[in-house]
Amino acid sequence: MIIPNNIQHIVILTGAGISAESGIKTFRDQDGLWESHDIMEVASLNGFKKNPDLVFDFYNARRDQLQSEEVHPNEAHLALARLEKKFQGKVTIITQNVDDLHERAGSTNIIHMHGELLKMHCKKSLKVFSISGKLNQSTICSCCREAGNLRPHIVWFGEVPYRLDDIEEELKSCDLFISIGTSGEVYPAAAFVSEVKHHGAVTIEQNIVPTKQSRLFDSQLTGPSTIEVPRLVKIILNP
Ligand code: APR
Repeated sequence: MIIPNNIQHIVILTGAGISAESGIKTFRDQDGLWESHDIMEVASLNGFKKNPDLVFDFYNARRDQLQSEEVHPNEAHLALARLEKKFQGKVTIITQNVDDLHERAGSTNIIHMHGELLKMHCKKSLKVFSISGKLNQSTICSCCREAGNLRPHIVWFGEVPYRLDDIEEELKSCDLFISIGTSGEVYPAAAFVSEVKHHGAVTIEQNIVPTKQSRLFDSQLTGPSTIEVPRLVKIILNP
């Protein structure tokens, strides 16, 4: 595995696989979320318009699980937080995940490109609020003082991911790109590796199995992220 010794900016793209060992289901693995739910019913604007209660229930259930006693950041999340603290350059996490496990592990420079499970936004003002308890049609919006205007702060299929301009800047300036726990099935995240290679970055894919994108990466670290990510962070911090 090639780690250049003068790296200044590490960009890490994470997907559902980094939270799998914390007990949070991925989407496309066996018994994944998309096996038991119709994506277009629970993760699209049309689905929300058609049956908002089903969508509210889907995200309320995922939020309950995330906030339950059993779910904690795992060794991979903690290793990335250590990397941000100890690395002499910049570390940016761009995550497709909507959980807050990176934050709870101690990472601070995080871009949630697909939104956040613990947040909601007003459809009128687009203001974003933290959610405490259940979110549903009767939740009163604190900016318009009426019910029916709030939705989960999640990017649904067909919607534009958040902070793409910021992401563009990060990808342009990174010299080491690490993808962790993503199938590379969903764009624009799936295009990031080609973008950073174009700017001369070294690329590493960490996943429990090879993916359809593996051939695009300079090297692969195959195994559970709780084992491979701490190992990788140790190598980066002690070249
Ligand atoms: N360690 C490392 N990788 C793992 C582990 C693990 N313990 N367990 C699973 N993986 C890998 C799987 O091999 C798979 O490649 O994590 C990946 C999960 O892929 P997906 O379920 O497709 O999740 P993700 O890539 O994050 O999906 C991207 O799709 O549905 C949308 O918005 C949703 O953000 C999501 C996006």
